[in-house]
Amino acid sequence: MYFETFYNRYQLDDDILKKIGFNPYYLKVQSALNETLFIEGKEVIDLASNNYLGIANDSRIKKAAIKAINKYGVSLCATPIALGFSDLYNEASLRLSSFIGVESSIIYPSCYQANNGLFSVIASKDDVIIIDQYAHSSLVEGARAIGCKIRPFLHNNLNNLEKNLKYSGKYNQIIVVTESVFSTEGSIAPFKSIVELCKKYNALPVIDDSHGIGVLGKNGKGILEHEGLNNYDGVYTASLGKSLANFGGVIGGKKSLIDYLKYYSSHLVYSTALPPHILAGIIEALNIIGNEFDVLSKKMWDSRNKLRDALIKHGYQLTPSVAPIVSIITGTTEDTLLFAKTLFENKIISTPFVYPSVPKDKGVIRLIAGANLSENSLKKVISCFRLLKSG
Ligand SMILES: Cc1ncc(COP(=O)(O)O)c(C=O)c1O
Repeated sequence: MYFETFYNRYQLDDDILKKIGFNPYYLKVQSALNETLFIEGKEVIDLASNNYLGIANDSRIKKAAIKAINKYGVSLCATPIALGFSDLYNEASLRLSSFIGVESSIIYPSCYQANNGLFSVIASKDDVIIIDQYAHSSLVEGARAIGCKIRPFLHNNLNNLEKNLKYSGKYNQIIVVTESVFSTEGSIAPFKSIVELCKKYNALPVIDDSHGIGVLGKNGKGILEHEGLNNYDGVYTASLGKSLANFGGVIGGKKSLIDYLKYYSSHLVYSTALPPHILAGIIEALNIIGNEFDVLSKKMWDSRNKLRDALIKHGYQLTPSVAPIVSIITGTTEDTLLFAKTLFENKIISTPFVYPSVPKDKGVIRLIAGANLSENSLKKVISCFRLLKSG
């Protein structure tokens, strides 16, 4: 057949999944994200989603979304520059700017799209992008698309970052890219120091706060609050599909840049706008965080601490996480997938990270205990991990 060679290239190598007899990816979810949920007909405890504050099935967010559906329908069937920019879009952007602590912001259909599209506007071939070696695929792919020099720096290593900055003087523009919370390791970037280094070397900082927004800082406002950066003049991005329990990706920063993106960022301009009900959901999530962050974050951290302490006590090897993420080091792809299978059989859904999402044989099982996890479920989880260790 004419296309045989072409399609032969795309044969999925799933031998390992067959050997294990379990595929943890693309499992069919059949219920909302409560502390337990139904997957493939089985009720399991959720330690996999990014529902940090446990508000993904909150009745107030659902009500706000339904109200918006009743008013606007399910889609405006247009890009934001055309007819897709609802009054709720405007309100959500304004609310996000003041929440995050930036002059202005605009919401993309996803943070992958935002990160991916950002560099095509702010960078060009004569620039250098210095990027944390563990940065998310959306940032790496976005940077690669420019065709400029890319220099990875050692994870959260300020000395190594400075070394790279020192050697970058010949480039037209220096851009330093990192994340706030690294979602596999649970590490947090020393972002204030990174911003200071950027100032010293005349570089533009870009931070992806996807796992920090709604999580870090006294009021959950994210990395800028956490680091006390009041007049941040770099670029900020974050997903609205994690602690904010909705959808979309925000880019924040100086008003002039955001205004420019609104007209010249193809990833925004030529893509259907987020529907009004999602924007209503984002606004309601911000209301909830504004009123209840103290209580929600205490629950989230309590569960995280109890889970982490118990796992250490029972002899599990963990990444040195300082975020509400608990990652068990499992090593090879086979061991990681096997462990995910065992947990699923014990009614716990986790996120296994294997190569190429992590370096070869550096697999981890990530556990996120959201604020909606009950004492009872947490006890069940801890007892399961204890039994698995004792054989
Ligand atoms: C660090 C980071 N950046 C960006 C994204 C992409 O966000 P979104 O799901 O909104 O496209 C993710 C989500 O997986 C992420 O973890």
